[in-house]
Amino acid sequence: MPFGSEQPGAPYLDAVVAYGFRGPGRFHVPGHKGGPGADPGLRFALGDRALAMDIPQDIQGVDLGPSPTPYQRAERLAAEAYGAQRTWFLTNGATQGNHALCLALAPLGTKVVAQRNSHASLVDGLVLSGGIPSFVAPAYDGTLGMAHGITPEDLRATLEATPEAKVVFMVSPTYYGMVADVAGCAEVAHEHGAALVVDQSWGPHFGFHPDLPPGALSLGADAALTSVHKMAGSLTQSAMLHVAPGGRVDIATVDRMMRLLRTTSPSSLLMASLDASRRQLAVHGEALIHETLAAVARTREKLSTVPGLRVVGPEQVGRPGVADWDPLRIVLDVTGLGRTGYEVSEALRNAYDVQPELATQATLVLIVGIAEDPKALERVAGDIDETAKRIIQPGTTRPVIAPPAALSQQMTTSPRDAFLGASEVIPVAEAIGRVSCESIAGYPPGIPALLPGEEITAETVAYLQELVETGARLHGASHPGFERVTVLLR
Ligand SMILES: Cc1ncc(COP(=O)(O)O)c(C=O)c1O
Repeated sequence: MPFGSEQPGAPYLDAVVAYGFRGPGRFHVPGHKGGPGADPGLRFALGDRALAMDIPQDIQGVDLGPSPTPYQRAERLAAEAYGAQRTWFLTNGATQGNHALCLALAPLGTKVVAQRNSHASLVDGLVLSGGIPSFVAPAYDGTLGMAHGITPEDLRATLEATPEAKVVFMVSPTYYGMVADVAGCAEVAHEHGAALVVDQSWGPHFGFHPDLPPGALSLGADAALTSVHKMAGSLTQSAMLHVAPGGRVDIATVDRMMRLLRTTSPSSLLMASLDASRRQLAVHGEALIHETLAAVARTREKLSTVPGLRVVGPEQVGRPGVADWDPLRIVLDVTGLGRTGYEVSEALRNAYDVQPELATQATLVLIVGIAEDPKALERVAGDIDETAKRIIQPGTTRPVIAPPAALSQQMTTSPRDAFLGASEVIPVAEAIGRVSCESIAGYPPGIPALLPGEEITAETVAYLQELVETGARLHGASHPGFERVTVLLR
């Protein structure tokens, strides 16, 4: 940390704490008044400290008064830590960030390029904004059913076919911690006159340790989202939106859209947790991550000796869509056990109360925090070892179902018109040729097979039905069994 840096401070957290404990006459919302008006059960559960710090917007000396207020200083410190020109605290997750960026960069009728397996909030953002996407398919590992990032080459081809596009939305890292070639994609986007937005929700810790991938802004992205709660230390639902210096993304426009999407009562607890989390990453992140990385390495080593398991990670780097990887993700290929990831996950839960982040047919994914307890990692390695030995069976599980080659149907109507248009629910068998009002993704691979505005094909129906038969979840389907689907009225 450079001498004179203000990163060791947490001005918003400090201001909220000071207000909470100095005993002001609280003749304002919230009605619990810092504790006395709250149900005793809630008081016991949260403690009076949390309730005392739960304060509204527009409090003098917190986010009101001479500029910069503690709140403004907190966002500025976050911008400095992430190399942004401007950072906004988000109290509705990175979801809110995707919505704001779509409204700011993809207004009505604007053509944009988006990674096909973007988070659902990106397409929802386009429903709000009226932007029209062309998709870039992610690289795909068919053995593990794992979608990776996009490649600069595929992005170039899509941008050449969509020369009007002014913005590219991509995701890096993926849920599995695989990092795309962000620098290469930034170069391609900029050559085509488009801004690059990177959904770095799964990498809020990137750039805070030399052995972790760098953050997207330092690689040329014009805006990025970090879902701080996912991997770092802030409270669930808190995240950040960052805009890079350089002017490709207009700060005033994003700010306008943030005002549209923001509650007038943002949670001071969530925002204080972002301020604190930024401090922890900026000041102590490197040391904490250093210790965690050493413990993760030992865990990976132990897991790699378990018969039937393969620890996935650095060997993926260099494959299409994978330029780097995040060691704070433990991805296990369980196919050698003759069991599905769902079965391994259930066995772990039943025997040891271990709750993995994600199970798919072929994999199990564990999320490691920036300051994971080394003993917890050691223990989980033992739990997985014991479980694997107990449930291993000869033979392999059925291969992962391959998604249809294109995974991108013809978009005949904008996502906005399809989502908001007059619709009817019909049996799937009658839906071929109709326009979907739904967004449906099978897990794995988490790539939407159908989006609002796309024509439903026989191939997509067959694929989604096969996924249902194998017990995979269909995200977004209004009928989880996929017997019926919502389509636009003709
Ligand atoms: C890539 C990606 N972007 C955005 C989000 C939404 O983040 P949040 O839950 O913070 O709203 C997620 C959530 O899983 C995600 O995986």
